[in-house]
Amino acid sequence: MIDKLYNNNNLPKEELGQLIKDNLKGIDPKLLKLARKTRENYYGNKVFFRGLIEISNHCKNNCLYCGIRGANLKIDRYRLNKENILACCRKGYDMGFRTFVLQGGEDGYYSDDRVADIIDSIKNEYPDCALTLSLGEKPYKTYKKYYQAGADRYLLRHESATDSHYERLHPKGMEFNSRKQCLYDLKEIGFQVGAGFMVGSPYQTIDNLVNDLLFLKELEPHMVGIGPFIPHKDTRFAAKEAGGLEDTIVMIALTRLLLPKSLLPATTALATIDSMGREKALNAGANVVMPNLSPGEVREYYSLYDNKRSTGDESANHIEDIRCRIKEAGYTPDFSRGDYHNFNIKGGVR
Ligand code: 5AD
Repeated sequence: MIDKLYNNNNLPKEELGQLIKDNLKGIDPKLLKLARKTRENYYGNKVFFRGLIEISNHCKNNCLYCGIRGANLKIDRYRLNKENILACCRKGYDMGFRTFVLQGGEDGYYSDDRVADIIDSIKNEYPDCALTLSLGEKPYKTYKKYYQAGADRYLLRHESATDSHYERLHPKGMEFNSRKQCLYDLKEIGFQVGAGFMVGSPYQTIDNLVNDLLFLKELEPHMVGIGPFIPHKDTRFAAKEAGGLEDTIVMIALTRLLLPKSLLPATTALATIDSMGREKALNAGANVVMPNLSPGEVREYYSLYDNKRSTGDESANHIEDIRCRIKEAGYTPDFSRGDYHNFNIKGGVR
């Protein structure tokens, strides 16, 4: 089945389910090998660097798993203004970053005009950089405005492609369908789009994971963020078990085989549950890392889950350490924009 998936970059639903089930019991080394080979066919051994700027931990939403949910009164809230954000970009640019990712909760402070102005300022100062946004669900016209202001990419994890499971992770009023609509809107507008999900989130079944992969195959996003669920103490899921390292690795490898051209980050959540998590993700077909460029003094407040790694080598302050570790693992750190390429020929690196 793995060969079939490797050759066709697709698999019938039942076989995909079986493959997940088998590998969750113990990873077949061939899965990892072919995932790596697929990545190499398209992107060689490059690992793309993106500078992550967490612009605000205010959020109007109440996703049950998330530490910065609006109803959590126990955290200190912060937001960065345009000057703060530009200072982060400046720091990142000097370190060599050519992609900036602005991520934040759904925070009303950032009106469409305000975000457009921030985008415009960044693109004016750094025309050679790609700009990625990750600011949640917005109306079509807002996304369009962001795009017209110069944003290139947008990350919005789909979280779960099974309606009933999505609804168990989110409060009433949040639906998978709206998420899906946003992702299709973003694609239509012209963004490079990122979807993704957590592995081991509460109530998740193998069937749910199959649906996640099938949805990804249907959407064909350019990027897919996959990390383990990690409980946060101030949420209803505080006592739930975290997602597993190996389970996450399996889902990354399968995603690489289904979407060979995708850009797949080795996520901070994975690095949080295992000190070698990042390397293990790279060895399963991931090819992106996103060191944190947020100002040191606000970093601890962007607490999506407990013990989130934000210092040490998850932080861009230690860029040389990160670079070294990537090289030691056998990869080539790449600080270019690292756009998604629409390769025509299998095996051809543009
Ligand atoms: N554990 C792991 N990942 C989380 N996220 C939010 N809360 C958690 C958690 N408790 C992820 C979501 C979101 C992304 C920004 O972080 O998938 O889309």
